[in-house]
Amino acid sequence: MATEVKLDIRKLDKGFGAEARGVDLANADDSTLDALVNAFEHHGALLVRGQKLEPDDLLRYISHFGEPEEHTLKEFTLEGYPNIYILSNREVGGRKGSHYDGVGWHTDYSYKEEPVKCTMLYSIEVPSGGGDTLLADLCAAYDALSEEMKQKLDKLVLHHSYKYFMETREFGRMKLSPELEAENPDVFHPLIRTHPADGRKALWVSTGTVKDIVGMEKAEADALIDELIAFVTQDRFVYRHEWKVGDVLVWDNRCTLHTGTKYDDANSYRVAYRLWAKGDKPF
Ligand code: SIN
Repeated sequence: MATEVKLDIRKLDKGFGAEARGVDLANADDSTLDALVNAFEHHGALLVRGQKLEPDDLLRYISHFGEPEEHTLKEFTLEGYPNIYILSNREVGGRKGSHYDGVGWHTDYSYKEEPVKCTMLYSIEVPSGGGDTLLADLCAAYDALSEEMKQKLDKLVLHHSYKYFMETREFGRMKLSPELEAENPDVFHPLIRTHPADGRKALWVSTGTVKDIVGMEKAEADALIDELIAFVTQDRFVYRHEWKVGDVLVWDNRCTLHTGTKYDDANSYRVAYRLWAKGDKPF
């Protein structure tokens, strides 16, 4: 019989997300990595600090969460590693990093039929003056809604669009090529999402990719989205991650929103690798 792996798991400061201590990801066995995934399923985010990892170590770890997902903009991936995306204001190994790629509250790949389950960031270089990642706990936000509001939101469906997102976002705005447009048709997802691990509900709102709400006037939909984003991003639901070199943070896109933050990019560098594991259709 396989022995049960005991992890030293501690909650992060908001009572949401957790840190696993005493783990060496590069040398951990499969049972330990599976135990980490199990902890992640119930905490919304999982941090392991002090790691020294090669790209293959990162791929091995993300593969325990699910099949690694490719990135839409291939030009920012690490040479020879299409599943590893470079978040940076400088070149890494001759490839350009994507600068301020994740600034603005969102959940990754929400413009796809099957958005990614989780996002993993591995911190290689930490800038001065910012560059934190903020995570909002969408389950706590849902639980804090009034019964009346839960009923009002229960059946709403959001219209997500990659084209709309890329043509309106603050950083890296671009007009899609016909190929990218064809690869990324608009999709529709419920506003209230159920977590497959235990049925907990999340107020799965987002900025960026949300173009409108099905059956609602545009002005009313925009106002409701703004109201909900302001609600879920209140300080009481948000964990701020201040990066240290060697941090590996994985967050659950089925129940969180996240945003990168600006930093002193004229005088310092930020380098992080991002990996995704495939997810399933929200319900
Ligand atoms: C992301 O949104 O994928 C990255 C967030 C960050 O750069 O902190």
